[in-house]
Amino acid sequence: MGMPEIHVVQRDNRHLYEQYFDPYFRLRHDIYVKQRKWMALDRPDGREIDQFDTEDAAYLFCLDGGQLIGAMRALPTLMPTLMSDIFPYLAIRGPVHRADVYELSRIFVIPERRGEHAGPRIEMLLLTAIMEYGISIGLTGFSIVLESWWLPRFERCGWRAHPLGLPQMIDGMSVLAVLVDCNETTWKSLCTQIGLTNPTLTWHGLTGVNRQILPDISLLHSPTVQPAR
Ligand code: COA
Repeated sequence: MGMPEIHVVQRDNRHLYEQYFDPYFRLRHDIYVKQRKWMALDRPDGREIDQFDTEDAAYLFCLDGGQLIGAMRALPTLMPTLMSDIFPYLAIRGPVHRADVYELSRIFVIPERRGEHAGPRIEMLLLTAIMEYGISIGLTGFSIVLESWWLPRFERCGWRAHPLGLPQMIDGMSVLAVLVDCNETTWKSLCTQIGLTNPTLTWHGLTGVNRQILPDISLLHSPTVQPAR
């Protein structure tokens, strides 16, 4: 089995990935509505699509042998976000609106590919890939509205999350807003943890996108941030 590929999908190359969008939105419905029971996201057509799935959204699609096995969404924070439009009260100083920060949401891995496998964990691969994406397009951070169980997971893998407010109970979940650092140090540390030696993202059809080409990981400085043990 080859290494799953992580594809950047956004406005300019979305037409190349049209076949994946219907399964993608159905998977989101299965995972968030049926499994996690986030009933506010329920839709009669069995697809979980919200007001933030616009042409400004960027997606990472994790594909293995042509099958979508995981994904994540990134929204420019200069546009409406979950934090600005749905959960503004979670950020004490107000929602993040910055050109150099994107908001992450809807990270998932299909149930049969969760946990540890022979290769790197898909979830870790996505966390590594989104750092690579952020650095490539010049971001310095990611804002996220998340459940607090993510915090120890971020801590373990070396993601540095700064709280923007206090956790609140929302629909029985402890939820808070954070800003996560996006930098080469974190990226390199993640790559080392999962055994990646090269940038991993596939940028099909995105030659027009202004981005920094990242070097081999071995050419970067040693990470100073170590994941907590
Ligand atoms: N509540 C609390 N802890 C959770 C959790 C949840 N809903 N989902 C995952 N975790 C934590 C637990 O510590 C879990 O360990 P456990 O199985 O011993 O309880 C650990 O994460 C490992 O999770 P697992 O599901 O085995 O797989 P993973 O690490 O490969 O993938 C996710 C993690 C979140 C990507 C995967 O669980 C997923 O796709 N979940 C559904 C989508 C989702 O809820 N995304 C987050 C909000 S957008």
